[in-house]
Amino acid sequence: MELNPDFTWQNSPIFVGSLAETLGPWLKEQSYSQILVLTDTNTYVHCLPSLKDLLPYPFHTIQIPAGEQHKNLETCAQIWQQLLHYKLDRKSLLINLGGGVIGDMGGFCAATWKRGIHFIQVPTTLLAMTDAAIGGKTGIDFQGIKNTIGVFQTPAAVFADPAFLNTLPNREFISGLAEVLKHGFIGDPELLSNFANLQPAVLRSLPWPQILIQSIAVKVRVVTEDPKENGLRMLLNYGHTIGHALESYFLETNTPLTHGEAIAIGMICETPAPHHTQVTQLLAPFFPKVPIPKETYNSLWQLMQQDKKNSSGAVRLAIPDELPYTMKVLDITEPQLGNLLQKYAVTEF
Ligand code: GLY
Repeated sequence: MELNPDFTWQNSPIFVGSLAETLGPWLKEQSYSQILVLTDTNTYVHCLPSLKDLLPYPFHTIQIPAGEQHKNLETCAQIWQQLLHYKLDRKSLLINLGGGVIGDMGGFCAATWKRGIHFIQVPTTLLAMTDAAIGGKTGIDFQGIKNTIGVFQTPAAVFADPAFLNTLPNREFISGLAEVLKHGFIGDPELLSNFANLQPAVLRSLPWPQILIQSIAVKVRVVTEDPKENGLRMLLNYGHTIGHALESYFLETNTPLTHGEAIAIGMICETPAPHHTQVTQLLAPFFPKVPIPKETYNSLWQLMQQDKKNSSGAVRLAIPDELPYTMKVLDITEPQLGNLLQKYAVTEF
């Protein structure tokens, strides 16, 4: 059977479809010495069973605790320890079976193990299928700052199986929706039309394989034009400057936000008129208002100092411009951040 990827990025195939029809045949064409599958406590139970029977070589599995709070150097040390234990040589393959945390951290561990072994991304969340697994970013959080340590490394392949979406709790599913909508806002109004006036209760019955293709198409187009984030790729960070600060801040509280919840707030805050209303209306049914006390504004500003887009001390927002795939860059001050957060607080939805 001939394998036709849905996309190719940096000579690496991206497949959307059943693992049995994509990953299984693809692996048979490779010649790895052994396979190690990185899972978390969720994907070990809910996703590994669909993968196991497709692995044609000897394999082992590693399981790490689930959650962004574990995306750090300590967990990397545990993973590298297992690579040592199983004697992974340079002909081995690491399979990252999970969401963004597993993909980012597994990719980083593989990219640095013996100066780089092959890894593939098998994203199991909507967020990872549409965003994190595509584009070669790997890395971990450091001292509470998101994605501070990492490298660009292209995976050997990406396999997004929409069947895994059924394993997700609602909150996790909706978290990924924020990135899908982001792709619509920056590049594809037709993608957005799937979600206009949509009741959250019917979200899961949308044609997800097709929506994944539409959403990944936007990401692939941007990372093809600008793989190392010297320009247009900054646009994928729309909503993330404020969103990442919120995510880091709330991670330390008893009420952490999901990544998508944080960047949905970020997109609402960062979008100026005339698009503010459209963006808010599309996000509001899925992302109810979160109170952000004024006392937190300075902490959020401090967290934003670490944003990778910043230049010459200014905090930089990248937001969509009038046409698809065009970007406006705005440098903001601390009082301006306060105004944006205040505008979010008073917007009715
Ligand atoms: N998630 C943003 C990027 O890949 O650049």
